[in-house]
Amino acid sequence: MTTTSRRWVLARHVEGAPSPEDFRLETVQLPALEDGQFIARTILASVDPGMRSRLSGGDSYAGAMKIGEGIDGFAVIQVVESRNPAYAVGDVLAAGGGWREHIVSDGRGLIQKIPAEWAGRGVPLGAWIGVLGVPGLTAWFGMHRVAQAKEGETLLVTSAAGPVGATAGQIGKRLGMRVVGVAGGPRKCAWLEDEAGFDTVIDYKAVPDLTAAIAEACPRGVDVLFDNVGNESIDRVLPMMRMRGRVVVSGQVADYNVEPQDRYGLKNTSVLITHRVRMEGLVVFDDIRQFAEAQAQMAAWIADGSLKIAIEEFDGLERLPEAFCGLFRGENFGRRLVRLAADPG
Ligand SMILES: NC(=O)c1ccc[n+]([C@@H]2O[C@H](COP(=O)([O-])OP(=O)(O)OC[C@H]3O[C@@H](n4cnc5c(N)ncnc54)[C@H](OP(=O)(O)O)[C@@H]3O)[C@@H](O)[C@H]2O)c1
Repeated sequence: MTTTSRRWVLARHVEGAPSPEDFRLETVQLPALEDGQFIARTILASVDPGMRSRLSGGDSYAGAMKIGEGIDGFAVIQVVESRNPAYAVGDVLAAGGGWREHIVSDGRGLIQKIPAEWAGRGVPLGAWIGVLGVPGLTAWFGMHRVAQAKEGETLLVTSAAGPVGATAGQIGKRLGMRVVGVAGGPRKCAWLEDEAGFDTVIDYKAVPDLTAAIAEACPRGVDVLFDNVGNESIDRVLPMMRMRGRVVVSGQVADYNVEPQDRYGLKNTSVLITHRVRMEGLVVFDDIRQFAEAQAQMAAWIADGSLKIAIEEFDGLERLPEAFCGLFRGENFGRRLVRLAADPG
């Protein structure tokens, strides 16, 4: 049995864009298990833009990380030793694991046994920490509960090629919406139009005037803005919101690397009054009781090929910081995961 394990810890608080030097790889001793605990090995670990908000030393909706603390994140793991009757050796789980080779768990927290029935039906393991995990569920509850999106409406999605944005847009299409995406670069834009079925996609890195491009793509205005980017992005679209429109504040990827006092300030909020627009954020865990229902529906769509997913894999624990830092340069194509071990047979 393995007695040591490697993990990434925070080497220093991050200022501005994260860099690999902000993280340090260390070897730790695995403890002898107590009753109720299990040890799992990591198969796939995720990198998420939202993790950035905990790395600067200030509190966000999740607490700030201290220097020397292990980096958290979602992971697909497999139990290798157990003294917890609920988790047997061999069980494959989606869980809060982190950038580490092994996880020692007391069985509490967000842990899901990955349902075996989907394994042979074209639903990859990585989907359970992607479209069937927090990113996809954010899209699901953002679109349904927060936006209350409806047939015939216009949906605008920013960072549209990420796992949250691409899922939100595809849910919009299923609801009968006209779906417009904003994403960076021709590859992402082509995938969104040709594979994910978006009606129009704007490459914000190529257009001379993004505001004009959005106005042209949404001639009747925007009913639902699903924003993953941040204040400037929201402020640009506010004047285009239709009466009783909804702004879903999902994420702020452009603002995570900027100190709060230096962030773009919203200017166009009068439209919230004049057009009775509702702007609402979400933390996906608020909807945890409905996760299973949403996952079953989306798993069926992945299996029948009607929900397109993009998963990009890096190999090896060593590559986690590099994979994470690239998110803020737009380098990821879909859900970015790092593989530490092959899928269990
Ligand atoms: N509220 C919740 O409960 C919840 C849960 C999960 C995730 N989220 C949020 O949802 C958002 C999307 O997450 P995701 O996992 O799908 O990641 P993602 O959209 O793939 O995020 C990375 C992408 O963000 C874009 N980006 C990076 N820097 C940018 C900048 N300065 N300006 C504009 N775009 C920039 C890039 O795409 P382009 O190449 O297209 O620019 C990059 O590829 C994130 O903000 C995340 O924090 C919220």
